[in-house]
Amino acid sequence: MTAKERPPGHDVTGTGRAFVAGATGFTGREVVRLLVEKGVRTVAHVRPDSPRLEEWRERFSAVGAEVDATAWDKTAMRDTLVRVRPGLVFALLGTTRARMKAARRAGEDPASRSYEAVDYGLTALLIEALRETGLSLRFIYLSAAGVKETSRSAYYRARSRVEALVRSSGLAYTIARPSIISGPGRDDRRRMEQLGATVGDRLLAAAGKIGAHRLRARYASTTNVRLAAALVRLALDPKAENRIFESEELT
Ligand SMILES: NC(=O)c1ccc[n+]([C@@H]2O[C@H](COP(=O)([O-])OP(=O)(O)OC[C@H]3O[C@@H](n4cnc5c(N)ncnc54)[C@H](OP(=O)(O)O)[C@@H]3O)[C@@H](O)[C@H]2O)c1
Repeated sequence: MTAKERPPGHDVTGTGRAFVAGATGFTGREVVRLLVEKGVRTVAHVRPDSPRLEEWRERFSAVGAEVDATAWDKTAMRDTLVRVRPGLVFALLGTTRARMKAARRAGEDPASRSYEAVDYGLTALLIEALRETGLSLRFIYLSAAGVKETSRSAYYRARSRVEALVRSSGLAYTIARPSIISGPGRDDRRRMEQLGATVGDRLLAAAGKIGAHRLRARYASTTNVRLAAALVRLALDPKAENRIFESEELT
């Protein structure tokens, strides 16, 4: 039976439903598509203030996912999660410097788009809401290669704090630390990131030739399609529970 032929609510994996936060992202949209393809009943979360909410409703409905637009509010999120009862929850969201700059240009408070507010704040809210449900589930967190508590970068510090929170939450978890996520079809062009991936991969290929294979494997770029496949595979693998996967293991 193909994904399209399956009746809504049909779960062939026995994992219960999946709830995907950050579903509209470059990685998230592919995770949603793959989960549905694998027969997991999937709820794609879209922020209610998204200017593209209706477009996402159509796109996700077309691949067979449900759409939820609960506000980023702990009580509202908890109530939604109690209703959805997911067995898998993916946290794939994060802001960028470009988003912070856009907020400033639009006269909004850029702090509301900061790594602290989004990458840490919203993921922490999701974890707290999940803890309050008392549900038994696996939390799949998309972190980043090179995360370090002592990093000078606010991005890495926020991610390090989320990882610590995930690990102490009492929830079963899987953490993935990919390197640069590149590939065609991003909504924003991210020239510097694409350039970083191309140049970085060339340098790493050269490093590989002189024996630095581990370095190459750790920091070589991936694509949203490859990463999503790895995330879904790990989410469905009991052996991946309570483990952290580095970039070279996400292939
Ligand atoms: N890009 C990379 O090279 C890379 C490398 C390693 C790790 N990561 C991490 O992996 C994750 C996914 O990466 P990606 O490139 O797939 O992400 P992406 O395409 O930038 O998508 C980001 C997601 O976060 C949501 N989001 C951003 N700001 C938000 C806000 N203020 N409120 C609510 N939702 C918000 C977006 O929702 P809307 O669509 O509604 O705005 C979208 O669903 C990110 O956390 C990123 O930091 C990225």
